[in-house]
Amino acid sequence: MHLHRLEKIWLSIGIGMLAIFLIVLGTMAFTMGMAPPSMDHHTIDPTKVNQTAPFDKPGITQTGNKQYEAVIVAYAFGYEPQKLEVPAGSTVDFMVTTSDVVHGFSIVGTNVNMMIEPGEISHISHTFDEPGEYLIICNEYCGTGHEYMKTTIVVK
Ligand code: CUA
Repeated sequence: MHLHRLEKIWLSIGIGMLAIFLIVLGTMAFTMGMAPPSMDHHTIDPTKVNQTAPFDKPGITQTGNKQYEAVIVAYAFGYEPQKLEVPAGSTVDFMVTTSDVVHGFSIVGTNVNMMIEPGEISHISHTFDEPGEYLIICNEYCGTGHEYMKTTIVVK
């Protein structure tokens, strides 16, 4: 097989770039210990959500001064608990999982927006400075009742 000189040059550039990328990737992974985020990666058995703590008792609990933890289970088609309430200025640590299929967890008017997957625990924190009623909706299509899937958090 005869290769034109220019083809040889381009081939060497291509192979050279591939080698550089692999070296960079290898150095980052093995020498610098870089890996995808896994610190908050908690999993549970998706078939035993209602028997696994803390999801066996969904609800909101105070964990400190103006600090709350909300344990929420998403399901087709709703969220447990149905209503959440905190005083204005509170920071809420949300801990959400699902007992069936992929759902969304989006708080309208905030930048809280998570995908909820069976067997995975999703975490996010948000400080509610303004009193009001915040709508929480599902933004992942999950079945015929998807558009009815919602709950609220009341900030007093
Ligand atoms: Cu749950 Cu869409």
